Amino acid sequence: MNGLYGLGQALLLAIPPEQAHDLAVKGLELGFYPRAPRPDDKRLAQTVFSLDFPNPLGMAPGFDKSARVPRELLAIGFGFVEVGTLTPRPQSGNPAPRLFRSTSDRAIINRLGFNNEGQEIALSRLMDRPQGIVGVNIGAGRDSKDRIADYVSGMERMVPVANYFTFNISSPNTPGLRDLQAPKTLDSLLKRVQAARDSLPKRPPLLVKLAPDLADEDLPEIVGVIVANGAEGIVVSNTTLARDGLKDASFARESGGLSGRPLFVRSTRMLARVYQLTEGKLPLIGVGGIDSGETALAKIAAGASLIQLYTALVFEGLGLIARIKRALVEAIEQAKADSLAPLIGKRAEEWASREVAARL
Ligand SMILES: Cc1cc2nc3c(=O)[nH]c(=O)nc-3n(C[C@H](O)[C@H](O)[C@H](O)COP(=O)(O)O)c2cc1C
Repeated sequence: MNGLYGLGQALLLAIPPEQAHDLAVKGLELGFYPRAPRPDDKRLAQTVFSLDFPNPLGMAPGFDKSARVPRELLAIGFGFVEVGTLTPRPQSGNPAPRLFRSTSDRAIINRLGFNNEGQEIALSRLMDRPQGIVGVNIGAGRDSKDRIADYVSGMERMVPVANYFTFNISSPNTPGLRDLQAPKTLDSLLKRVQAARDSLPKRPPLLVKLAPDLADEDLPEIVGVIVANGAEGIVVSNTTLARDGLKDASFARESGGLSGRPLFVRSTRMLARVYQLTEGKLPLIGVGGIDSGETALAKIAAGASLIQLYTALVFEGLGLIARIKRALVEAIEQAKADSLAPLIGKRAEEWASREVAARL
């Protein structure tokens, strides 16, 4: 059966990326996927921002933007799923082609521009709650007059179905969105969101997702604003606008956000810096270029309590999920530990100051 999924995987790599994505979602909807053995090894379990995660590996947002297949993604072995980015109303996104794949670079460039079916439909799909943790990633509408209001209303609308929220203020594909990371603007965003959260029937954890292109010197103030406003976690990172180290020159010329292997060092270094700035007190989700047990462990060592991936699934297939979980269990055994806790942030200092990262 695994051979059959491998064949499906090879076929997906042979067709244009956006059609391959749509087909992969369809395949999941139709039940064409391998079920992971459950329960997970209990040493992979963690309680993070008061939620019980069966394992630390999540599906990053962007794959299931409109919450079509959260149950299926949980069934293939992810410990949690983040749906979205969802905007208040449906959006068609940028004109195609807008998704590019480079096998030689093990990377994707996307300029999708928040194409999604909107929050109403996603809400109705999620009302029949999947067994497992579902985070909801919220964005602002492309033509919104008051972007901050979109984050507030997104949280209010989606609160019945969200185990946690991530505020995506770091997509490079909605013009001006990343300006929300400016400390003053971020401060008013978080203050308005927190005020609105106080009058909700429950208090879902709030996370902020950052871009890996923030300048080193701006990071302390940004992280300071996030901490001061009582967010429960930070996600590091979104896709990058940088293009260094790519082999495929025509791919490199496409505009949009780059993800996958070339993002790994940049996003892991930033993760380590955020870990240091927060003194390890705030749970971090590490995402960007995880494509093996080794890279997953590196994110944890750099400071991540939880990890996510997307791009490597395209190149490696679904078997990657089990491989990463196995590597994490082995690392726990080697450390003579009974959970991931002692591994988190153990190499943050090294990652934050890496010589190799200085060249980025
Ligand atoms: C095709 C594509 C679409 C994405 N869409 C979103 C999105 O809607 N919201 C978001 O927060 N991140 C989005 N991302 C970013 C991923 O969630 C992740 O942060 C990034 O790809 C780095 O992880 P990776 O290298 O494992 O892919 C998208 C990534 C890709 C490749």
